[in-house]
Amino acid sequence: IIQDFFMKGEILKPGQSLNLQLAKKIAKIYEIKISFDIEETEEEAIENPLAEIEKYFETKHKDSQNLVLRPPIVTIMGHVDHGKTTLLDYIRRTRVVEKEEGGITQSIGAYQVEINGKKITFIDTPGHEVFTEMRARGAQATDIVVLVVAADDGVMPQTIEAYNHAKSANVPIIVAINKIDKPNANVELTKQALVSKLSLIPEDWGGDTITVPISAKKGENVDTLLEMILLVAEMQEIKAIPDGPVRAITIETKLDRGYGPVANAIIKDGILHVGDYIIAGKVLGKVKALVNDKGKRIKEAGPATPVMIVGFEELPDSHSVIYSVESLNKAREITEKIREIEQRELRKKRHMKLEEILKMME
Ligand code: GTP
Ligand code: MG
Repeated sequence: IIQDFFMKGEILKPGQSLNLQLAKKIAKIYEIKISFDIEETEEEAIENPLAEIEKYFETKHKDSQNLVLRPPIVTIMGHVDHGKTTLLDYIRRTRVVEKEEGGITQSIGAYQVEINGKKITFIDTPGHEVFTEMRARGAQATDIVVLVVAADDGVMPQTIEAYNHAKSANVPIIVAINKIDKPNANVELTKQALVSKLSLIPEDWGGDTITVPISAKKGENVDTLLEMILLVAEMQEIKAIPDGPVRAITIETKLDRGYGPVANAIIKDGILHVGDYIIAGKVLGKVKALVNDKGKRIKEAGPATPVMIVGFEELPDSHSVIYSVESLNKAREITEKIREIEQRELRKKRHMKLEEILKMME
């Protein structure tokens, strides 16, 4: 089949999913009897309930009188082992004044620190190549991207990929040229690579990209990096709706041993309270507990606060936006609609694998 189709100029690959149309075409050519259990019936359209909820937030955001400044959400990105987590660890160690009491530090993938009275929320992302989705999500969720590039390694594949995510999300990029304490570090060469591979021209070379040479391990110049982040954030005037319903972005979801299904999230708008009804895609819940990045239970969480949300009925998708809704009934109604829409999509999109067709020929 692959060969025949290739001759006709259509490329099929082993393992490829075929849509209904193509599967039918193949079945016809090779005289295979396939029972497609998909009926293309006419169904009344269901309006996506999330569209209406999003509209509320968009409308509120249009009127800046409703809004307050919120701390920036900054995502640390870069190639594997270039020092993202080390940088965040250093910042946390030196900037988290409050001693962690009453709780084991919860790793929620996001942290808030305070610099001269100003807060910054950081999201860490993994550099490994399989985590493309997480990096894309990180870039979407963020106000500023700090691109960490090791000065002894230069611009590498996941540096480029991270850069592309930041660019398509239209987010300002600050480059942290890391590991300058290493004997084989070469800042100049790294800057050259920024220019040649990413077309990012450093400010000191006449361009407009802020680059800060740092050592995440020794802490050298990290203060300058933080100042730059605050500077860029200030120019952006990042705002949030101070009260009312909540919109939060998910960093990750997981089944916690003690807490059950949880979502690590950052509040974007509104204030989330213990007891609120929430939805995340097709999953609903009632907030049983909120745990902050210091492992402490809190009663409420406002804009830019990283928080672990406990109380979902099942594990939500890691890419779903979390909203608070006024009642359990409302939460049910919305999530049931989303389920129905998803099931319809699945029915419509039921694909066949080439291998499935071959089996029917045997
Ligand atoms: P992934 O999360 O796996 O993508 O890696 P990462 O970017 O978070 O790197 P990580 O912080 O885990 O650091 C990788 C290694 O580089 C560790 O052994 C760090 O100690 C080391 N490292 C990070 N920053 C520096 C630095 O400024 N100087 C030196 N000498 N080593 C560093
Ligand atoms: Mg890391």
